[in-house]
Amino acid sequence: MNDRSGPVVGIIPAAGRGVRLGETLPKAFVELDGRTMLDRAVHTMIDSGTVDRVVIVVPPELAGTPADELVGTGPAGRVTVVAGGAERADSVRAGLDAAGDARFVLVHDAARALTPPDLCARVTWALRDGKDAVIPVLPVADTIKSIDTDGQVTGTPDRATLRAVQTPQGFDVALLRRANGDAGDATDDAGLVERLGEPVHTVAGDPLAFKITTPLDLVLARALLASGTAARESAEREQER
Ligand code: C5P
Repeated sequence: MNDRSGPVVGIIPAAGRGVRLGETLPKAFVELDGRTMLDRAVHTMIDSGTVDRVVIVVPPELAGTPADELVGTGPAGRVTVVAGGAERADSVRAGLDAAGDARFVLVHDAARALTPPDLCARVTWALRDGKDAVIPVLPVADTIKSIDTDGQVTGTPDRATLRAVQTPQGFDVALLRRANGDAGDATDDAGLVERLGEPVHTVAGDPLAFKITTPLDLVLARALLASGTAARESAEREQER
């Protein structure tokens, strides 16, 4: 299908119970400066001006929650809330099932709560421009080693060829549906597309799209918000567009 127009739907899998942050709530529902990570992630997608609707995938017991309770009245009319599954890939599938007439989907981690809207736009533009699978990446600062089960080093990949992967990851909807059908417990949607032998393209990521996983990440995210750095840098990116 070569028509690159048609709706773009965001999918936010937020049905995990991950408690690595040390908080009692599932990660997506942890607040940063009075707003949940989920709320921030939805606004990022809508504010990009390139995402038409967003499907939020939540733990089954929260699936009846009205959208405006999760994201406020602003974007609520463009948000659908559905129940997730046992594994992340099941939750993405539930999101795909609710994506209706989507031409493209952007799968985004709520945990990347400070992602600038500009990054979502970059992914969408690459899809519109002819790519069927697009991921944002950054160069890695550390040298990366592979190790065996005893912790002994087995190799040192050339750092120049390595990239750290962020979200949103963007896909032709039919391609992701095909890739997701045999997902098992995969945590990376682009990896499933690679498994099919289909090309995955990269666009420049953004340091602000870091994944808030540990208590240290949470400290950094709160400090960035308190100092106004996140908002300022996001606005600068917007002006450069
Ligand atoms: O645990 P991890 O950080 O890899 O989870 C990535 C994302 O996938 C989280 O936002 C989590 O809520 C989501 N997830 C999900 N359904 C699951 C497991 C994880 O939506 N069954």
